[in-house]
Amino acid sequence: MLWSPTPKLWPLLVFLSLLLLLSPSTLALTPSPLVTYTNTLIPQRADPHISKHTDGYYYFTATVPAYDSIIVRRAPTIQGLASAPETTIWRRKSSGIGSNQVWAPELHYIDGKWYIYVALGVANEWRIRAFVLEGVGSNPQTATWSEKGLVNTDWDTFSLDAHQFQVNGTRYLVWAQQEPSRTDENSSLLLAKLVNPWTIQRPATVISRPLLSWERIGYKVNEGPATLQKNGKIFLTYSASATDSNYCMGLLTASVGADLLNAASWSKSQTPVFQSNSLTKQYGPGHNSFTVSEDNLSDILVFHDRGYPNITGDPLNDPNRRTRVQKIYWRADGTPDLGIPVPDGATPVRLRSFSSPGSYIRYYTGTSPSGSATLADQLFRIITPGLAGGNTVSLESASRPGLYLRRSGTQVRFDAGSSGSSASFKSEASWNRREGLTDAAKGVSFEAAGVSGQYLRLTGVDGGLVLAAVGGDQGQRGQATFYLE
Ligand SMILES: *[C@@H]1O[C@H](CO)[C@@H](O)[C@H](O)[C@H]1NC(C)=O
Ligand SMILES: *[C@@H]1O[C@H](CO)[C@@H](O)[C@H](O)[C@H]1NC(C)=O
Ligand SMILES: *[C@@H]1O[C@H](CO)[C@@H](O)[C@H](O)[C@H]1NC(C)=O
Ligand SMILES: *[C@@H]1O[C@H](CO)[C@@H](O)[C@H](O)[C@H]1NC(C)=O
Repeated sequence: MLWSPTPKLWPLLVFLSLLLLLSPSTLALTPSPLVTYTNTLIPQRADPHISKHTDGYYYFTATVPAYDSIIVRRAPTIQGLASAPETTIWRRKSSGIGSNQVWAPELHYIDGKWYIYVALGVANEWRIRAFVLEGVGSNPQTATWSEKGLVNTDWDTFSLDAHQFQVNGTRYLVWAQQEPSRTDENSSLLLAKLVNPWTIQRPATVISRPLLSWERIGYKVNEGPATLQKNGKIFLTYSASATDSNYCMGLLTASVGADLLNAASWSKSQTPVFQSNSLTKQYGPGHNSFTVSEDNLSDILVFHDRGYPNITGDPLNDPNRRTRVQKIYWRADGTPDLGIPVPDGATPVRLRSFSSPGSYIRYYTGTSPSGSATLADQLFRIITPGLAGGNTVSLESASRPGLYLRRSGTQVRFDAGSSGSSASFKSEASWNRREGLTDAAKGVSFEAAGVSGQYLRLTGVDGGLVLAAVGGDQGQRGQATFYLE
């Protein structure tokens, strides 16, 4: 006999099915529709921190090139931060701690008050320490700010980049600090519980040291920690090496249920998870934070980099670290894939196949793909209008800017376009964007410009593309339907 629940049990059942929906394996696969931003978001703002508050606003703070003040912007959208007015909420003092080197502020809302964690220096000294400000008021731009003082750590040594996060009700502070026994290195990452927003419970635990070769170029640095929690894990990114084009990001991972103050609970990626890319012309990406998109469905990576690799003099005197944003994609195993720093301009999208859900349009050389695709090769910019103008679009590889998806007989390949490209190339690299042939509401299809009835079709799980007619065959129509994410 079928068990039929009494109406009293229905709310419980709905709750339990929601729990099932939110289980780690499905969370990673939750569809997350495309988001579009335009980079550079904000020039000359380094160590960017963007957070979405319960009032619906995004708040932004960052290091200014003069290292002399703390600024806050707010806007209803991430892109809106680009043109939002900037309020200076704190200025450097005439002497003592806070008289120079105002670095990397982070804004957090804790138990009804605002807190800014910021690194402060002393004029004419190399003496940087983590400091806390408290703001009372609903809007941090107009809040009344007071100084809570230095974070009292185990040692009076170089310390900076404090970041607070909460795991299952417990608040933690993670920051960068030089260990007295390791003066050959600039900074390790330290973690402690917070007793209140400006006081840690000592002693702290060292959770990472700059021991891998890519963490020791120029300077031996682990700094700029940030956290992202998902799928039962804490993903803690940090930045390594000198703040020139060698600057890059590493990753530590721990389980939410683990004893985070036990260094053994954290596993460290042996390779950087985000680094310079000469093809996209992005150099020294790092000192990131995490936020979410306007629809709450995408995780967004916020970071700074430079648009050129070579710096004259001390990188800290070069003002052109700029704030950028791009979408984070999740692997099927529930871990984040940060990919590559994408090129300037509109952020790219990934095109997921309707008929084989784990497959995406990907960049490849020649006429068919080989090997496995990286996320970077699955990202494309949809150029509007396309190279042929009018209502067409073109698909430009994000990992190989300047290479466009084009038809070539019944094949599809990626070739370089330029302002001098022939009219036939422009036509072959242009498409009419149509409603998805098997999902008109949410999908998209691409019909070749100038060859009506011929559609871009992804024929196999390996990402091979062809140009072919589609009739009423649902299999063929599915191969020609994609979701933008
Ligand atoms: C790193 O340490 C070296 C050697 O102590 C020092 O000269 C340099 O200023 C430090 N750099 C940073 C970014 O802390
Ligand atoms: C969260 O905390 C509660 C209460 O302390 C505990 O019972 C639970 O196991 C914790 N969850 C995880 C994932 O550690
Ligand atoms: C996003 O999440 C916040 C916080 O949970 C909520 O207030 C807001 O309504 C959500 N926005 C959308 C578009 O779902
Ligand atoms: C940067 O410097 C390197 C080494 O000096 C040089 O090979 C390279 O061409 C320079 N790159 C640019 C874009 O100037």
